[in-house]
Amino acid sequence: MSRNERISMSVIRRLPRYYRFLYDLKENGVTRISSRELAQRMHLTASQIRQDFNCFGEFGQQGYGYMVEQLYHEIERILGLDQLTPAILIGAGNMGRTIATQMHFERRGMKLIGIFDINPQIVGTSIGELTVLSEDEMVEFCQTNQPEMAILCIPKTSAPGVVQQLTELGIKGFWNFSHYYINDAHPDAIVENVHLSDSLMTLSYRLQQKD
Ligand code: NAI
Repeated sequence: MSRNERISMSVIRRLPRYYRFLYDLKENGVTRISSRELAQRMHLTASQIRQDFNCFGEFGQQGYGYMVEQLYHEIERILGLDQLTPAILIGAGNMGRTIATQMHFERRGMKLIGIFDINPQIVGTSIGELTVLSEDEMVEFCQTNQPEMAILCIPKTSAPGVVQQLTELGIKGFWNFSHYYINDAHPDAIVENVHLSDSLMTLSYRLQQKD
């Protein structure tokens, strides 16, 4: 087993944040940073940072700190951002259009290659450089272009059938906005569920506690 396969999800979930901070440091001309200073900026502890980075190898030196650019590229590699995974988006409504135009997929290791919808008024319209395709075109498109990841911006009721079809077409990962719990029927699917409302309700709770 490689070293990376033993990494806990809580460490993995912190990596995008490290990546963002290191990008800012790099852009501001910082070449080297101590774990103490990085910890202060990120509101973490220095030992947490050292433990996290030690999961991936020897990046820092005692008393010398971390080389920003090297660590940035290493995290980029670990997150798989140095290669582009082909992705499709299902549901070109309000959410789908926003995601398709605002996410800068290629900076996040994905390339959006197809967008699908069932509404005839939406099929054939353009989103960025892509034309929205109909669900009838999905099978041939996937067989030809082999996307690995799907972004679901469809209602929960539409999702089970779509996920079943996409799984049969070889889709392995889902960025799921649909509120349908994919892993019940597809335990092997790699799923990231997004529930923006959870964050809002957490904020609501915290505001109440303050009162
Ligand atoms: P919308 O109604 O504007 O867009 C949904 C689109 O999905 C429509 O264009 C529709 O034609 C298409 N669609 C439905 N079934 C389909 C199928 N089988 N194949 C392909 N396309 C299909 O809705 P909106 O605002 O874009 O939201 C989409 C979904 O995301 C909603 O169900 C909503 O509840 C959910 N949502 C989730 C959020 C989250 O944080 N996870 C936040 C906001 C909305």
